[in-house]
Amino acid sequence: MNGPHELPQPIPYQGSKRQIAPAILEHLPTTISRLVEPFAGSAALSMAAAARRTCDRFWINDAHAPLMRLWREIIHRPDALAGEYNRLWNDQLGRERQYFDEVRDRFNTHHAPADFLYLLARCVKAAIRYNARGQFNNTPDNRRKGARPAEMTRRITHASALLRHRIRLTSWDYARVLDQCAEDDLVYMDPPYQGVCGARNTRYLPKIDHGAFCDQLRNLNERHIMYAVSYDGRTGTKTYGEPLPGTLRLTQLEIRAGRSTQATLLGRSDVTHESLYLSPALVAALERTAHTNDSPLALR
Ligand SMILES: C[S@@+](CC[C@H](N)C(=O)[O-])C[C@H]1O[C@@H](n2cnc3c(N)ncnc32)[C@H](O)[C@@H]1O
Repeated sequence: MNGPHELPQPIPYQGSKRQIAPAILEHLPTTISRLVEPFAGSAALSMAAAARRTCDRFWINDAHAPLMRLWREIIHRPDALAGEYNRLWNDQLGRERQYFDEVRDRFNTHHAPADFLYLLARCVKAAIRYNARGQFNNTPDNRRKGARPAEMTRRITHASALLRHRIRLTSWDYARVLDQCAEDDLVYMDPPYQGVCGARNTRYLPKIDHGAFCDQLRNLNERHIMYAVSYDGRTGTKTYGEPLPGTLRLTQLEIRAGRSTQATLLGRSDVTHESLYLSPALVAALERTAHTNDSPLALR
C-alpha cells in the first residue's frame, strides 16, 4: 500500500481523511497497540494504519447508528453486503433516478445497511444529510451510478480482511469512548467542525460543544493518554475553525491537504492546510523513542 488511492475505502464519505491519512500517520508512532477513533466516519486513518500494519487493534466509534450498522456488515458479513449491493446496483439500471428515491424511502423506514451504502455511493458528494424529521434527504448525483459492484466488493472484502479479528465497533457519544481509553491507546479525533461532515443537524447526534470538547482533552492530558486531533485549518491566509487553546499544551502541526476546489475554480492556487494537534503524552512518547533508538519517530 503506497499511495492514498490504494487505501481501501468501503464507505464513500464527505469529509473523509483518506487523502491525508498517510501524512497524518507520518506523525504517529510506527507501532500502536490500539488505535481508537471516537469520531470514525469512514475511519480513513484506521484503514491506512491497518493497511500499513502499524497497529494491532482498532476501536471504531461513531454516534451515527446507521453508519455503525453499515460498518458491522462490512467487517463481519462482507459477502452478504457485497451481494446486496450488487443486486441494488443492477436493479437500478435504466431507472436510476426513480430507484434512488425508492431506496431512500425504504432506508428512512428500515435503516438497512445495504440501502445506506447504495445511497452514499450515489448521492451528491457522498454527503450524509437529514431533514429535521430525521429522514435522509440528499439527492442522487445523476452523472454517476455509484461504484460498480466488482469494485465495491473488492473494497468491502479488503476492509473486512484487514480489520475483522481485531476491531471493536460501537455507536456511542465520543465522551463515553474517551472514558474507557487507557495509557497504551492512541486516540485519533476528527470531530465534525463547522458542520461540514457527518449527519449534521439531526436527532441522531448530540451536538459537539467546543468548551466541552476542550474539557475532554484536558481530562485526557491528566490521564496521560496519547491523542491527536484534526480540528482547524487554513486555505492560503483564510483560516477556518476555532483553534484549540494553548492551555492544553498541544503541539500544532500543519498537514498539506491539497488545493481548495473553490480556489481552483477562481483560477487561484491556494493550498489547504489542516491542523493536527498532538497531545503532551504523545509528543513525550515520540521523543522517547526518537532518543532511544534513533528511529524515524522524531517530530517532523
Ligand atoms: C469529520 S467526520 C469524521 C471523518 C473521518 N475522519 C473520516 O475519515 O471519514 C465526524 C464524525 O463524527 C460523528 N459524530 C458527530 N457527533 C458525534 C458524537 N457526539 N460522538 C461521536 N461521534 C460523533 C459524525 O457522525 C461524523 O461521522
